[in-house]
Amino acid sequence: MKAFVVSEYAHPSKIHLTHNAPEPVQKPGSDELLIDVHSAGLNFFDILQCQGKYQTQPPRPFVLGAEFAGTVAAAPPGSPYKPGDRVFGAAQGAYGERVVAQRDYVLHLLDVLSFDQGAGIFMTYPTSYEALVGRAKLQTGEWLLVLAAAGGVGMAAVQIGKALGAHVIACASPSKLDVARSMGGADFVVDYTQDGWQKEVLKITGGRGVDVVFDPVGRIKDALKCVVWGGRALVVGFAGGEIEKLPLNLVLLKNVSVIGIYWGSYQKNKTTRVSEVWTELLALFASGRLKPVVFNGRYTLGTLTQGLQDLENRKTWGKVVVHVREPSARGKL
Ligand SMILES: NC(=O)c1ccc[n+]([C@@H]2O[C@H](COP(=O)([O-])OP(=O)(O)OC[C@H]3O[C@@H](n4cnc5c(N)ncnc54)[C@H](OP(=O)(O)O)[C@@H]3O)[C@@H](O)[C@H]2O)c1
Repeated sequence: MKAFVVSEYAHPSKIHLTHNAPEPVQKPGSDELLIDVHSAGLNFFDILQCQGKYQTQPPRPFVLGAEFAGTVAAAPPGSPYKPGDRVFGAAQGAYGERVVAQRDYVLHLLDVLSFDQGAGIFMTYPTSYEALVGRAKLQTGEWLLVLAAAGGVGMAAVQIGKALGAHVIACASPSKLDVARSMGGADFVVDYTQDGWQKEVLKITGGRGVDVVFDPVGRIKDALKCVVWGGRALVVGFAGGEIEKLPLNLVLLKNVSVIGIYWGSYQKNKTTRVSEVWTELLALFASGRLKPVVFNGRYTLGTLTQGLQDLENRKTWGKVVVHVREPSARGKL
């Protein structure tokens, strides 16, 4: 099968597509599913894992990729899934035509969602939903500030904030502001690459400031300048490349709550919440209130390295997806 195999650690630009990679086992174990991958979601950590720099490294050689949407090729007896079912989920090896996934990391893909949309929602949407609902307890009518609002988790946060009835201010690079407004549904957009951008946020909120900050970049210190007294700041990620260090006097002076969210740890620590979040999210997708946004890069396995480099170089918006199978083999898109 075709797959993006990492035999030696290197930057993705140095790795070539393997055309005859070994297929995974044809008979999945009792808690596994064999999946025909149609689309796969790109993540920054793929670039790190490819170079041996990520916190979890499979033994080499391994197939890169972590998120997929596709159809079930084989399921064990008694499984709630059957061959042909449309599914999405997470599994090491998503940049290959077939992958074996743990059943707990697979969900049925709603008919309203395409394979491309499904390939990018397993990590972004539950992270943003649990951050805003479970952790920050965002309320209808509150002001929400989303940093990197045109990116994967950011765009999900904008849409979820709107679905919850918040006023949403989206911050992004200038070329991505239109996307955050038109596809994310943000009420206001602010270019946060300009000095003093916080003044614009204060102006939009009538001088009051925002109640909640959603930060996947590592810029909470900057954002505290436009947070209300008693506000909440969500630590979601460090896309800026450095783990932010926060002067706690700022936290103290404004009575701010700084709240962490690591969705990947919920499956182990709070399993019941995982199914609750997905029940709520799937209802929002089904009703059309959440619409996953896919970057228009049209990458295939053959051009995957370009996609990873575009992601690395901050050229993308929405969720970046690669077509793993040829369109003729993908069925309904
Ligand atoms: N806590 C969790 O459970 C969880 C779950 C998923 C992801 N994350 C983390 O959240 C972060 C964002 O993930 P994502 O999937 O949204 O990524 P993404 O789609 O690649 O978006 C990241 C955005 O960050 C902004 N950015 C700011 N400074 C940047 C820089 N120096 N280099 C690259 N991008 C920069 C860019 O938007 P602008 O150009 O508009 O600034 C970019 O679009 C990552 O650190 C990821 O690890 C955390």
